Amino acid sequence: MTETGVAILQVENVRKEFAPAEEDGVAVTAIDGVDLAVEKGQFVAITGASGSGKSTLLHLLGGITRPSSGAVRLEGVDLATLGDEALAVLRRRRIGFVFQRYNLLPELSLVENVALPLVLDGVGNAAAEKRAHAALERVGMGHRAGHRPDALSGGEQQRGAIARALVTAPAIVLADEPTGALDSANSRRVIELFRDLVEREGQTVVLVTHDPAIAAGAPRVVRMRDGRVESDSLAPAAAPSSSGAAPR
Ligand SMILES: Nc1ncnc2c1ncn2[C@@H]1O[C@H](COP(=O)(O)OP(=O)(O)OP(=O)(O)O)[C@@H](O)[C@H]1O
Ligand SMILES: [Mg+2]
Repeated sequence: MTETGVAILQVENVRKEFAPAEEDGVAVTAIDGVDLAVEKGQFVAITGASGSGKSTLLHLLGGITRPSSGAVRLEGVDLATLGDEALAVLRRRRIGFVFQRYNLLPELSLVENVALPLVLDGVGNAAAEKRAHAALERVGMGHRAGHRPDALSGGEQQRGAIARALVTAPAIVLADEPTGALDSANSRRVIELFRDLVEREGQTVVLVTHDPAIAAGAPRVVRMRDGRVESDSLAPAAAPSSSGAAPR
C-alpha cells in the first residue's frame, strides 16, 4: 500500500457459502475467508483454476451477491448497510461491469447502447449520447458509434461494452473474463485498453481471468485457490506499449 493510496474497495474476511442442492445435500464454500484492498488507480487481475472462486468473488465485490459473512466496502460504504434498492443504485452509478459476452442490445446502435445506463438513470437522451460519444472515443470506437453491434467484430463489441461500463464514470470497473470470447490479438488489445485507462485516467480496474498470460498484463495479480487468496503479487512496472502511435 502506498502512502497516498486510497482504498476504493475493502474486503474483510469474506465467506460465501452456497446452500446444498436438494439432491446431494452438500453445501459449497465458494469463498473461504478473503481479505483484499484495492486502491484507486490500481489494475488488479484475479486468476486461478476453474472453480477457485474468481467469479463469486467478483460478484461479491460488485454487490451482485451478498457475503455469508465478512464485509465489502466500496468507497467506504459497507454494502451490507444498503437495502436491495440502494445497492442496485450504487451498482448502476459507481460500478462498471464487463462480461465475457458483450451483451449489447442488437436493435440499438453502439452509441445508444453505451448511453443506455445513463438514460436508465434519468439522463436526457441528448446529454446521454454526448457522454456516450466521449466514452466511445476513450476506447477508440468513436468512428463506429452509429453501427449496430452485429456490424462489429467481437473485439470491437467488447470495446463498446467497456465504453458502456465507463460512461457513468464509475469508481471501479469489474470485468469477468472479458477476453474469454476473443482471439489472442483482440485479447491483448482489451488488456492494453484497460492498462491505458488505468495509467492515463487513473481508472480502477479488477479483472478476472483463468488465463495466466492475460493476468500477467496487469501490474498486480491475485491468485485464488479453493476459495482463498493463494498469492497477491505486484509485478515490476510493465513496459509501456509501443503499439499504435496516434496519427497526426
Ligand atoms: N450459485 C451457485 N450455487 C452453488 N454453487 C456455486 C454457485 N456459484 C458458484 N458455485 C460454486 O462455487 C465455486 C466457485 O465458483 P466460481 O464460479 O466462482 O469459480 P470460477 O473461479 O469463476 O471458475 P471459472 O474459471 O470456471 O469461471 C465452484 O465450486 C462453483 O461450483
Ligand atoms: Mg468464473
